[in-house]
Amino acid sequence: MQQLPTRWEERERLRNKGQFWTPDWVAHAMVSYVATDTELVFDPATGGGAFFEALLSLGIPDIQFFGTDIDDEVLKDSIYSHPIARVEKRDFILDPPAGKFPSIVANPPYIRHHRLSPQMKARAKHLTDEAIGVPLDGRAGLHVYFLVQALSLLEVNGKLAFIMPADTCEGHFAKTLWDWIFSNYKVRCAITFDEKATPFPGVDTNAIVFLIENSLPAENLLWVKVLESSNDLSAFITSGFQEVGTSLEVHARSLQEAKVTGLSRRPNVNKPPKYRLGDFASVMRGIATGANEFFLMNSEQVAQSGIPDYNFKRVVGRTRDVSEDELTSNHIEELDLKQRPTYLLSLDGSPVELHPNVTAYLAEGEAMGLPQRALIQQRNPWYKMEQRKSPPILFTYLGRRNSRFIKNSAAILPLTGFLCVYPHLEDEDYIHRLWGALNHPDTIAHLASVGKSYGSGAIKVEPSKLKSLPIPDHVVNGFDLEPQQTQSCL
Ligand SMILES: C[S@@+](CC[C@H](N)C(=O)[O-])C[C@H]1O[C@@H](n2cnc3c(N)ncnc32)[C@H](O)[C@@H]1O
Repeated sequence: MQQLPTRWEERERLRNKGQFWTPDWVAHAMVSYVATDTELVFDPATGGGAFFEALLSLGIPDIQFFGTDIDDEVLKDSIYSHPIARVEKRDFILDPPAGKFPSIVANPPYIRHHRLSPQMKARAKHLTDEAIGVPLDGRAGLHVYFLVQALSLLEVNGKLAFIMPADTCEGHFAKTLWDWIFSNYKVRCAITFDEKATPFPGVDTNAIVFLIENSLPAENLLWVKVLESSNDLSAFITSGFQEVGTSLEVHARSLQEAKVTGLSRRPNVNKPPKYRLGDFASVMRGIATGANEFFLMNSEQVAQSGIPDYNFKRVVGRTRDVSEDELTSNHIEELDLKQRPTYLLSLDGSPVELHPNVTAYLAEGEAMGLPQRALIQQRNPWYKMEQRKSPPILFTYLGRRNSRFIKNSAAILPLTGFLCVYPHLEDEDYIHRLWGALNHPDTIAHLASVGKSYGSGAIKVEPSKLKSLPIPDHVVNGFDLEPQQTQSCL
């Protein structure tokens, strides 16, 4: 198994090239799917040759392997001197090989959109526009373009096996991507992994394997959860999806349901929920300061700055600063005693004369180049802070067990590590009951259906998605809640 470097620089180098190797038990299973009834297996991101090695272990006569990669070093590996292998240095997005392939297998480089060069982004946009016919949201990473390119290069009746991060099913681009795949290809099987069986231990990403054919879409597909790493997965695939070992959980699911729920999530056999969080509250993200080191202070720093108190608002910045389900004024004072910054310099930008100490402090910020920073640049004047009413409930995500709703009894303002939840009624009793309903384990269990999942079990939820969090009927009734009309957040 690949040993991941502990040093940050080395890990960054791996991240820039997307070099995380597939473990042999997964590579073997994926190759078993694509290597039947074919003379050639193509891996567009062949790296250290995990799939080639798996192919050799299958011992199929008269089969050839073709691999490409951008990294000279990996292509020099002695494994590729084998007579059935041919490898080329080639960028699969900028310079794909000509022609189509009967079998494609890959663990594409998982490189997020903000690390892609402008040239790569332009090429990727062209490629997805051509293949899908409608633009794909620009937040897709390189692995998504690999999938689109590979599907476009798959021969009719050809087979493809890709191992991808779960964001392939959960990102902003996911609906467009999967509408296209589901209407043009046959998705045979999606394989997910329990935390105990993760193919990439130590990487904060959930992996998912897609087995897809270039043939007419079918009404159903198989969805697998691997509970332990074992040979059961290979046996399941080589037996034509018949042999289900004890380490696998297998579900047949309809394409219709899979489309709505998303393939990274378990099949949803429940009726659509009657109530969602948005029926009871509105959601907004916390304040983004653009420069925490400048706008945030502790009481000692406030005193030293000589800036009058009325220019500050009390805030909570880090999610790990809140370990309880309720945030009280005592808690905030304790944080200050630990010298955590809880004072936000919150100037609203109105044309009043600023206190001389504020003016002097802002001059320091200008000397630091803050007005040129990406987020701050959009503000006028540059030091104008985002304004929020203090939210009665905060939402935070730390890990699956800790994703929770916090009662904001300190009337504090949260920064971006939190979401602000504004109940539609300001009545204290209503807020208290809603808080109870949101923290009910049956409500928390639904977070996975609206959030993005990470390898550590953490779930991240966008404000617009948190609004659609289902609250089960029995929880709504148990807390005696009634849906209400929206109120403004500010
Ligand atoms: C996640 S590794 C997979 C390697 C191997 N197939 C495996 O599964 O262990 C991805 C590989 O893609 C290569 N790569 C990165 N960008 C590429 C590109 N644009 N075209 C082709 N290969 C690329 C990296 O050098 C790396 O070796």
